[in-house]
Amino acid sequence: MAKSSTISIVTVMLKMKRTLIIGNWKMNLNTSQASILVHRLEERIKNHTNIEVVLAPSMLVLQPLSTQIDRRKFRLAAQNAHQKDEGAYTGEVSFAMLQDIVHYAIIGHSERRIYFHENLDTIRDKVAAAVRNGITPILCVGESQTERNAGETKRVIHDQLVTAISNLTSAEIENMVIAYEPVWAISTFGGILAKPDDIKKVMDYIRHQVSELYGKKTSETVRVIYGGSVDDHIAGGYLDIDGCDGVLVGGASLNYHKFSGIVDAANRIHNKNGDEQNGR
Ligand code: 13P
Repeated sequence: MAKSSTISIVTVMLKMKRTLIIGNWKMNLNTSQASILVHRLEERIKNHTNIEVVLAPSMLVLQPLSTQIDRRKFRLAAQNAHQKDEGAYTGEVSFAMLQDIVHYAIIGHSERRIYFHENLDTIRDKVAAAVRNGITPILCVGESQTERNAGETKRVIHDQLVTAISNLTSAEIENMVIAYEPVWAISTFGGILAKPDDIKKVMDYIRHQVSELYGKKTSETVRVIYGGSVDDHIAGGYLDIDGCDGVLVGGASLNYHKFSGIVDAANRIHNKNGDEQNGR
């Protein structure tokens, strides 16, 4: 294939990517509070073709919200599920049970790694279980403050990433989402505002690792997003990073002004980048 046609296929592929804005509500909002928040968001958020808005409420709230949401505007994500499809695992819900309700599942969040002792192998098995059940994993990776201070960021990211995707094919990796969430930047763990330049270096490293193992096409197609104290004021700085496909929002996703403001920022950046590409 001629080089110019290869480049144009890659360009079209990159242009086709929709910006992902994901709200991780964590263990907040009961059923009626969640319903009110969705109602407020539906009033404010338009039906964008270039942006995909994903809500990750608690497990309890997923089912009722799945019948309430306007599916042209929102998709749902689980915050967790069990790696086995069924069996004697009291208190657990499997990916198999969620497959008709959610498009996505957050896996490997630092709160699950730290508070619930999920290790690299458990996370690898959860990623495989999600894929097996037709659910797209949003794999979270990120180093702690101590690891960062010790210069271990790349090692930590490498180990978390390579183990988690080791059972997947290139096509399965191309469909997934990798969220870089440095633990020190998450509001409840420290909330240090990360500099976009520093984030870009780690995002580039993530793509480089994927490229080394699965090839350039896979590394360019997989969506890489950022999470950590993102709100409506600073979202634009992260969304503007070359190669950043979206943001994973915690605290600010519980506030409809802030969350819809982040979607507006994503839309502005999409339009600006579109204008630049078209030479306007
Ligand atoms: P904050 O946006 O509250 O820092 O949380 C980030 C996060 O953990 C999203 O998954």
